[in-house]
Amino acid sequence: MRKIVTYYLSASMAMKRILWRAMHRFIINKYKGSELVFLNYGYDYLDSKKESPKLQDIDEKERYCLQLYHSTVADVELKNRDILEVGCGRGGGASYITRYFKPKSYIGLDMSKEVIKFNNRYHKMPGLSFVTGNAQKLPFEDQSFDAIVNVESSRSYNDIDAFISEVHRALRPKGYLLFADIRTEEENELLRERFNRFGLKVIKEVNIIQNVVTALNLDSERRCDLIKKKTPKMFHGFAEEFSSTKDSKRYEEFADGTMIYLQYVLQKE
Ligand SMILES: C[S@@+](CC[C@H](N)C(=O)[O-])C[C@H]1O[C@@H](n2cnc3c(N)ncnc32)[C@H](O)[C@@H]1O
Repeated sequence: MRKIVTYYLSASMAMKRILWRAMHRFIINKYKGSELVFLNYGYDYLDSKKESPKLQDIDEKERYCLQLYHSTVADVELKNRDILEVGCGRGGGASYITRYFKPKSYIGLDMSKEVIKFNNRYHKMPGLSFVTGNAQKLPFEDQSFDAIVNVESSRSYNDIDAFISEVHRALRPKGYLLFADIRTEEENELLRERFNRFGLKVIKEVNIIQNVVTALNLDSERRCDLIKKKTPKMFHGFAEEFSSTKDSKRYEEFADGTMIYLQYVLQKE
């Protein structure tokens, strides 16, 4: 698995697009939308359960994944604002934020056209739409958005500078980047320096690895069940790594501190 991750991170953009499209096609064929609309590691509120959002029954199944979105965006007013999400995956976060935070508009962007087709069919609601595009060359005019959301997508971007510069260009003055993803400590030093260099001021930076590991512990059974039910046996190991269930190498890296998980609120200066 380590080899696959290393290969993936250093692959060309075209190859990553092929891999993600294959992955999304597989998931679309196997899972109904109601079973799996998030592809992230999740977040638990630890002791401060009072902060965890009240949810409709339909949202309870993927509570931890949804809470990762909630905790990433909760510090900024999104009501009546124009929001873009980059790397929206299967649209669970886009749907949640649109329904609960009531932005004026919310556009989810992903490089996989299969998943965008799925999202436009599955998550139909006023104000929400999905488009195919590349995080490193956003298909929008300057100063189009009040906030940009980016959850567990950025680590594999081949040109992170291009992404940050595009975010800065597409944000309105004083607009926000609401960011969550894994890094090593060293990678995070570089990331913070890049945000500063491109004119995104750090308003808040938190390492949420404990929240993520606890969520993985609490959600591991559901993840394993989904894998067992739908994935051919020969791919169980891969699916467990992708999903970071308790026996996976990725889980170990979270638990032993090799990887950290950053949540940032950044503001365009
Ligand atoms: C791990 S998934 C996370 C999806 C979603 N944010 C969530 O939390 O459920 C990462 C997503 O980023 C997308 N992605 C990766 N590189 C991208 C790029 N350069 N441009 C746009 N989307 C990208 C992938 O297609 C995938 O859907």
